[in-house]
Amino acid sequence: VVLSHTIVDPLVVIGYFSVVAGFVAWRLIPLLSDIFFEARLAGNDVNKAHRPLIPESLGIVVATIYLMALFLFIPFPFKQWFAQDDRTEGIRTFPFQKLGEFLAALLCLQSMVFLGFADDVFNIRWRYKLLMPTVASVPLLMGYYLSDGVTYMIVPLPFRPIFGQILNIGILYYVYIVMLTIFCTNSINILAGINGVEAGQSLIIAISIAINDLLYVNGPDKPAADVHLFSLYFMLPFIAVTTALLWHNWYPARVFVGDTYCYFAGMTFAVVGIVGHFSKTVLLMFIPQIVNFIYSTPQLFHIIPCPRHRLPRLNPETGLLEPSRAPLQELSPLGHTLARLLNGVGLTRFTYNADQTPAEMTNLTLLNLILIYTGPLHEQTLAGVVMALQVIGSGVAFTIRYKLVHFFY
Ligand code: UD1
Ligand code: MG
Repeated sequence: VVLSHTIVDPLVVIGYFSVVAGFVAWRLIPLLSDIFFEARLAGNDVNKAHRPLIPESLGIVVATIYLMALFLFIPFPFKQWFAQDDRTEGIRTFPFQKLGEFLAALLCLQSMVFLGFADDVFNIRWRYKLLMPTVASVPLLMGYYLSDGVTYMIVPLPFRPIFGQILNIGILYYVYIVMLTIFCTNSINILAGINGVEAGQSLIIAISIAINDLLYVNGPDKPAADVHLFSLYFMLPFIAVTTALLWHNWYPARVFVGDTYCYFAGMTFAVVGIVGHFSKTVLLMFIPQIVNFIYSTPQLFHIIPCPRHRLPRLNPETGLLEPSRAPLQELSPLGHTLARLLNGVGLTRFTYNADQTPAEMTNLTLLNLILIYTGPLHEQTLAGVVMALQVIGSGVAFTIRYKLVHFFY
């Protein structure tokens, strides 16, 4: 493949930056672990026999290195204009909008990292957690408005008789953007709790988005090539620092990624999807997260009791993970019906009291669901299964995006 000169230059630069960022992150994480301990940023690794205390929130290290790499990179995509701009004549061709969009994306990511770290330190409550991405996404909304602010959507074929081919949804588009940021950040944070799973799923999503970008950067459609190039600038260093983090977070974990990382990862994906106008494709890469989220809703909305931690639990005798459970006392009639229904269709498993009344049910997370069907698994194996599902999800996403799309559009 022969890439045109302007494309190659910044892409090569961000490639180098990524390698360096990944290497620095890989070296720094173990070195900084002690400092996190001293600052009491640590959590118990609950699925090990002696529940060792492990430094937490190392996501802040990789996110900082990532942001530094991208800050240093800011001039490169714009370098061709440095020579062209003739200030004396007052003629400026510089793409201010592009720069504005770039800076807005970075500010959004930086705010999200900052708020995520605040969450790790102060253990912010759930309802406020939902607000954090909303606040962080304001710069992104502004950047989006600045760049082109397109608020219409192409209507899928079955709905065209009603809405026509193109529907301008106006302000609702901005509402959609905010909801996307809330979903992307939190859905990664709740598909969590075993070594390697947060960074592992994020790595697969990032690689999938990067592969999708590569399909466009050299293509004939110039605007599409531009936005996918922009996406690559964000994805390549992300892949590098995430690989470094996963190295240390993989079973047996030496560090935890923290909510900082989950928010940082989710927001990075939301940002490229929105700025690049391919948010539906990004959502397709989130199939396991969407399943886990929908499956979790009875507990998230407290129709069924939701313990503070829903992660699978270790059976010390076998050394394998088994589904964790929620108590079934004090259930509302709706909760009762729903729990029985889920048990009936095999989406949860009851345990029973001596008098045959239900005592507990398995928590509604994808990790527990996998364990119901595979039987007890080793922690490392379960993390591997989730990553495999994520790869399959990406395969399905590409199939829908490039094969089945003709049935809808
Ligand atoms: C989310 C989940 C919660 C799950 C938790 C695990 C929902 C609504 N919330 O909460 O059910 O238990 O993530 O991250 O689904 N930990 C391990 N091993 C790991 C990773 C984490 O033992 O590999 C434990 C550690 O004690 C760590 C803690 O989980 O300190 C981190 O939990 P936190 O991120 O604070 O939980 P939430 O994101 O609030
Ligand atoms: Mg978390």
